[in-house]
Amino acid sequence: MQIKFKHVNFTYSPKSPFEYAALKNINLELNKHQFLAVVGHTGSGKSTLVQLINGLLLPTEGVVAVYDELVVPNKKYLRNLDKIVKKPKKHSSEQIIKAKEILEIARNRNVFKVKSLRKKVGMVFQFPEYQLFEETVVKDVAFGPRNFGVAKEEAEKLAKVSLEKVGLDESYYERSPFELSGGEKRRVAIAGILALEPDILILDEPTAGLDPLGAKLMMELFQRIYEGGTSIILVTHDMDIVMRYADNVCVLYEGEIKEVCDPITLFTSESEKYSLATPVLYEVAQKLIDAGYEIDISSIKNEKDLAKALSKGRKEK
Ligand SMILES: Nc1ncnc2c1ncn2[C@@H]1O[C@H](COP(=O)(O)OP(=O)(O)O)[C@@H](O)[C@H]1O
Ligand SMILES: [Mg+2]
Repeated sequence: MQIKFKHVNFTYSPKSPFEYAALKNINLELNKHQFLAVVGHTGSGKSTLVQLINGLLLPTEGVVAVYDELVVPNKKYLRNLDKIVKKPKKHSSEQIIKAKEILEIARNRNVFKVKSLRKKVGMVFQFPEYQLFEETVVKDVAFGPRNFGVAKEEAEKLAKVSLEKVGLDESYYERSPFELSGGEKRRVAIAGILALEPDILILDEPTAGLDPLGAKLMMELFQRIYEGGTSIILVTHDMDIVMRYADNVCVLYEGEIKEVCDPITLFTSESEKYSLATPVLYEVAQKLIDAGYEIDISSIKNEKDLAKALSKGRKEK
């Protein structure tokens, strides 16, 4: 994936009594193919951050670049920055540096077209099942591609491939989405996004409200999608999920990015200070180390890894 945030601020209801600065000076670069977790306490700005990536929200200041496309606050924004750079006497050196840095990102990029951006960045909201509306599962999943001008038959083909990816076989095709279980509905909604074949899939708390097994199956699905070449950005407050699945984690705290690192580095460096829990598996591994076991904690993502690390130190009988 290729995403850049440069000097991004986001304020809800600006210049009103309800004004609220949800994101402050966000700078972030995501280049390689990755499974990124976005974590932080409730209200830290996670949902706001991810909605800026597909242009659902526009920054109040700064820009977000997604491949060649640029999400900007408004049409005049870049022109105004140009003026700052061209008439430097009227502005502080900080303003000028910021303007130059933003313009540097903007160079050779175009202000986004909603459709092409949404095709690259698929977004699954929390409780996506509420967005289902077609009379059959196949029609619902094919709706996205149809909306992008794909012919009916081809769209249905894409829909069927996507349904297979989310583990729903042909017995579901002609059923009404409304008669499915919560977990199945959510799978249909996710298939609808996958049918657009996005490069980047954003998931905002996708396991919320699922039972533990349902959540595990859902995460395994995302793992497969990731291994299939789609980058994942997953908003979650479940640190066990972060430890198991993410290879990079972005920590938000009161609207600011505090860390971008690998999960183990985060848990080793007192994640509690950002109001984050510690994964159970990490605690177990740490207790074993305290008890004298030699374990390389950075190699552990799940219980299999832990078992392997433990058996390494065990003498052959
Ligand atoms: N539509 C809105 N109007 C005003 N404030 C909002 C709105 N949406 C979110 N906020 C506020 O912005 C902050 C960040 O929200 P959000 O990005 O949803 O956080 P998170 O997803 O991390 O829980 C919160 O304090 C929230 O109350
Ligand atoms: Mg949220």
